[in-house]
Amino acid sequence: MNIELKTWEEVSEYVDKHYKMPVSQWEHIVQNRNTYPAHAFSKGQLASKAWLIQQLFYVRIEKLPAVNPDTLIVLGSWIGSLIEPLFQRFPHIGRTYGIDIDAESIAKSEKLNQKHVQNDWKYKGVVADVNNLTLNNCEFETGGELITVKPDWIINTSCEHMDNTWFNTVDYDQLLIIQSNNSEDFEGHINTCANLDEFNSKYPLSTEYMCGEMITPAYTRYMKIGFK
Ligand SMILES: C[S@@+](CC[C@H](N)C(=O)[O-])C[C@H]1O[C@@H](n2cnc3c(N)ncnc32)[C@H](O)[C@@H]1O
Repeated sequence: MNIELKTWEEVSEYVDKHYKMPVSQWEHIVQNRNTYPAHAFSKGQLASKAWLIQQLFYVRIEKLPAVNPDTLIVLGSWIGSLIEPLFQRFPHIGRTYGIDIDAESIAKSEKLNQKHVQNDWKYKGVVADVNNLTLNNCEFETGGELITVKPDWIINTSCEHMDNTWFNTVDYDQLLIIQSNNSEDFEGHINTCANLDEFNSKYPLSTEYMCGEMITPAYTRYMKIGFK
């Protein structure tokens, strides 16, 4: 479960091996490089997203073989860089809502994932504060519609940017995929975890399919997948 990438060369090798995204998407990103923040596609970002998709795939195959989620929600989804590589690995995921408090990020996420927005909202961005959502019975407005939904899977790779209010509103039958990290060097990191023990005590799960850390030259990222 644990991965140690001691140098940036090792991080690059990991990304080359595990990060899968169509060339057309890279072409779109390069053509729109003034729109998307470059650090959304840094080596560390790509490695952490590749790790999430890889581990979720194992859990899906080995522990949850019959389950394709109807609805997935991504909290603190930023510009939606997880969406395309996630859909590459999980083409049968149903509707996916990306939730972010920042309207500009959500607009960028819809541009980046335009073909999925146009595909009957397979991806749809939502401007909302996750602390105002009740995740076992979400209500939010997007695209002029009021949506009420209980998402089957909840991804949060932005735990370090928010307190734990969101976690308290998750039900026992919603699959959680959570990442945090120990880096206090970035703006907005208000809730980092010093180590895996702290990560575990902040986000306790009763059924844990995976839990581990990815060590990089700059910081350590923590991840767990399971049910409360
Ligand atoms: C820098 S980004 C993503 C970093 C994360 N480590 C990752 O790799 O996905 C963090 C995002 O969380 C969003 N965010 C922070 N607090 C939030 C909240 N209360 N509700 C929704 N989004 C929030 C920010 O607007 C930002 O887009």
